[in-house]
Amino acid sequence: MSTVRVGIIGYGYWGPNLTRNFYEIPSAELVAIADLNDGRLKQAASKYTQVVVAHNYQELFDLGLDAVVVATPPATHHRIAKDCLEHNLHVLVEKPITLSTRDAEDLVELADAKGLTLMVGHTFEYNSAIHVLKDYIDSGELGEIYYLDAARLNLGLFQRDSNVMWDLAPHDISILLYLMGKKPVSVSAHGAPCVFEGIHDVAYINMMFPGNVPAYIHVSWLDPCKVRRITIVGSKKMAVFNDMEPEQKIKIYDKNVTGSHDYTNGSFGEFQCSYHTGDITIPSIRFSEPLRQECQHFIDCIVNHTQPRSSGREGLEVVRILEVAQHSLVNGQTHEALI
Ligand SMILES: NC(=O)c1ccc[n+]([C@@H]2O[C@H](COP(=O)([O-])OP(=O)(O)OC[C@H]3O[C@@H](n4cnc5c(N)ncnc54)[C@H](O)[C@@H]3O)[C@@H](O)[C@H]2O)c1
Repeated sequence: MSTVRVGIIGYGYWGPNLTRNFYEIPSAELVAIADLNDGRLKQAASKYTQVVVAHNYQELFDLGLDAVVVATPPATHHRIAKDCLEHNLHVLVEKPITLSTRDAEDLVELADAKGLTLMVGHTFEYNSAIHVLKDYIDSGELGEIYYLDAARLNLGLFQRDSNVMWDLAPHDISILLYLMGKKPVSVSAHGAPCVFEGIHDVAYINMMFPGNVPAYIHVSWLDPCKVRRITIVGSKKMAVFNDMEPEQKIKIYDKNVTGSHDYTNGSFGEFQCSYHTGDITIPSIRFSEPLRQECQHFIDCIVNHTQPRSSGREGLEVVRILEVAQHSLVNGQTHEALI
């Protein structure tokens, strides 16, 4: 295969970003774009004049494609991705890979049986700032990890077929799984449907990682400020990833607190805190567009027959966590165990 022939399904808000990247990648050939919306198709046709545009994505099956990218609303992912796999196409599906564990398992099994690449668009796993953050954790520079905290807040955009957790938290869950290099043992979630009945627009997820390391995720469509932040608090240092910063995305704070109890005369006395505040380090990051890295990785995995970093299995893992969190969100259960 000299170049990988790619079709895009879904040219709404996110599809054009994927399209631009596949158009620019030398080892990929952008062949076709499908969207149900005529206005979106018109825009695609005027921008990519050599490319076939189609209303019905199934027209793409006659074009000799190698791969497709599914950037349609989440409720359609399983049906479209399954259809594409059944037509022997490698598939990159946007996050969340599906809206149920069963559907995600179905896609993973089908891709495995056919020897096809199935990848999910967990874009942050291709973000060099996140890689730097992981290096800080893995090298032990932060010390023992006490807790992780992620916030992804803004005003809108309200989705019709999912709540804020399924819309925004896949990113944070995938980042935290990647940073910790392991799965959580339990999950719980709280939140509220403020604007539309039954659709949670603010949610707090709590995941407990092995070794009693908690991770908290706050997601909201109902916040006045746009926040994209991950804080990792360790026994030696603390790290903050702020994606709203154009350049200084990571700051390492040489700050920590040591606590001790004063057991004067054998009885429990005052506890003592010792606060340490040192320098703030801003690591330099060789940044390139994460989405470009993701798209290139998809092509490379197809050509080299290798497993993607954000494989279908990883997409399934994130959906499994979301499904348990959803159950907790709706039923008020705390700390549901993950099998
Ligand atoms: N990785 C990221 O950072 C990121 C960012 C934004 C959105 N997303 C994901 O991208 C996906 C799309 O989100 P969006 O915000 O672009 O949604 P959108 O509603 O703006 O666009 C979806 C498009 O899909 C089209 N569509 C729907 N059903 C179709 C079908 N059967 N065949 C062809 N076209 C169809 C719609 O007409 C629409 O133009 C979602 O899964 C979302 O979670 C990912």
